[in-house]
Amino acid sequence: MNKDKIGVMFVCLGNICRSPMAEAVFTHLVEERGLSERFKIQSSGVGPWHVGERPHPGTIQVLRQHDMAAINGKRAQQIKSDLFTSFDYVIAMDTSNQSDLKRLGNATLLLDEIVDGEVKDVPDPYYERNFNYVFELVKQGCSKLLDRICQEQGLG
Ligand code: 4NP
Repeated sequence: MNKDKIGVMFVCLGNICRSPMAEAVFTHLVEERGLSERFKIQSSGVGPWHVGERPHPGTIQVLRQHDMAAINGKRAQQIKSDLFTSFDYVIAMDTSNQSDLKRLGNATLLLDEIVDGEVKDVPDPYYERNFNYVFELVKQGCSKLLDRICQEQGLG
């Protein structure tokens, strides 16, 4: 564990649609608050199928539309067994990802952060192609997550 930085790892199935989107959005929000030096932010996938690939074009497009270009250079990676000792916060995109992670540790759901929200899973845009809707959910979840982490870690 890097004691200097707060480690946040976002996890989805393939690490090309949702978790790279969350990584970019969260990174953007952290930058806005002037806290970049305090965080180590990454994303990874439960499955191996897309390792080494760039994020999905739909994810790249929606991030560009919102001026969150922090996705440049991102390549998909698969979760590693030391996930829960290397990162302070492991955030799953849906309940299926969360249960796939169970053998390694307890991840929380991104949308747990939306207090009054009924939706618990970030839907998979790989099949639905609803990247704009997914972006809005991810943005709300990331904003609440950052609020919680700042509170827990005593950050301004
Ligand atoms: P992600 O989306 O988990 O949000 O990156 C998917 C990407 C690839 C596949 C499924 C979901 N796939 O079956 O290859």
